[in-house]
Amino acid sequence: MAGNGRLDGLRVLLTGGGSGIGLAIVQRYVEEGAIVSVADLNPAAAPAVESLGARFAAVDVADADAVVAWVDQEAAALGGIDVAVAGAGYQLVAMATDLTVEQWDHQMAVMLRGPFVLFKSVLPYVIEGGGGSLIVIGSNLSFAGMTKTTSYTAAKHGVIGLVQVLAVDYAQDGVRVNALCPGPTDTPLIRRQLEEAADPAAKLAQWNSDMVLNRLGTPEEIAAGAVFLASDESSFVTGSSLMIDGGFTAW
Ligand SMILES: NC(=O)c1ccc[n+]([C@@H]2O[C@H](COP(=O)([O-])OP(=O)(O)OC[C@H]3O[C@@H](n4cnc5c(N)ncnc54)[C@H](O)[C@@H]3O)[C@@H](O)[C@H]2O)c1
Repeated sequence: MAGNGRLDGLRVLLTGGGSGIGLAIVQRYVEEGAIVSVADLNPAAAPAVESLGARFAAVDVADADAVVAWVDQEAAALGGIDVAVAGAGYQLVAMATDLTVEQWDHQMAVMLRGPFVLFKSVLPYVIEGGGGSLIVIGSNLSFAGMTKTTSYTAAKHGVIGLVQVLAVDYAQDGVRVNALCPGPTDTPLIRRQLEEAADPAAKLAQWNSDMVLNRLGTPEEIAAGAVFLASDESSFVTGSSLMIDGGFTAW
C-alpha cells in the first residue's frame, strides 16, 4: 500500500516492532513518510525491520537502563523524537494460583513498566520538539478479563491509567497520549497459542465465532489505527482508547 505522506518526517521510536502488529506499524509508518527506529528483544527480527527502511536495535524493554540508553542514542541519531509507540508484549496464560510472583513481575516489567520507562525517557525530547504523540498498544483485555490471563490483563488495564495520567499532565506541552486496543489479531503471538491447543482448527473456529465480524483482525487493520493516532488527523484525541476489535467487546 503506497502512503500519502500522513507522517512525513516524523521521527518515531517503537518497541516490539520485530513481529506481528509492531512490524505492520513499522511498514505503514515508513510508507507514510516517518523515520522509524525499532527496539525489539529478538535480534533475528533485524533483517525484516531493516528491509522496510527502519532502524533496529536489540533491546529488552524489561531492562530500563537499556531502554533509556536506546532512547538517548536514537534521539541523537534522528535529531529528535516526535512519536513513541510502546508495543512490546507477550502473553502468559496461567490461573492466578499457578502464576509465580517472578512471572507476574516480568510481565509487569515488560508490559506496564516498559511503556512507563519508554514514555518517561522520550517525553523530554518530544516536548523539546514542540509536542507529539505517544501510543501504547493495549487490548480488548484493557477493559475486560479473560480466563487465565491474570498478569497480562492486569498489565493491559494498567496502561490505560498510564495513558490517562500522561494525557492530562503533558497536554500543555503539546503531547497527546492514547492507547491502541486490538482485539484478537492474527499474529505469531496468537498462532503460538493455537499451536498449543489440543485441536488448533477447532480453537480457531471458536475464536472466529467469538468475533462480531466472525474472523480475527489482521496486523494491517491495527496498524491503520496507529497511523491515525500518530498523525494530525487525531489532533483532538488524547487520553483515549481506540478499540479495533472486530466488535469483540460489543456483544
Ligand atoms: N495479537 C493479538 O491478538 C493482540 C491483541 C491485543 C493486544 N495485542 C498486543 O499487541 C502487541 C503486539 O503483539 P503481537 O500479537 O504482534 O505479538 P508478536 O509476538 O507477534 O510481537 C511481539 C513483539 O514484541 C517483542 N517483545 C516481546 N518481549 C519483549 C521485550 N521484553 N523487549 C522487547 N521486545 C519484546 C517480540 O520479540 C515481538 O517482536 C502486544 O503488546 C500484545 O499484547 C495483541
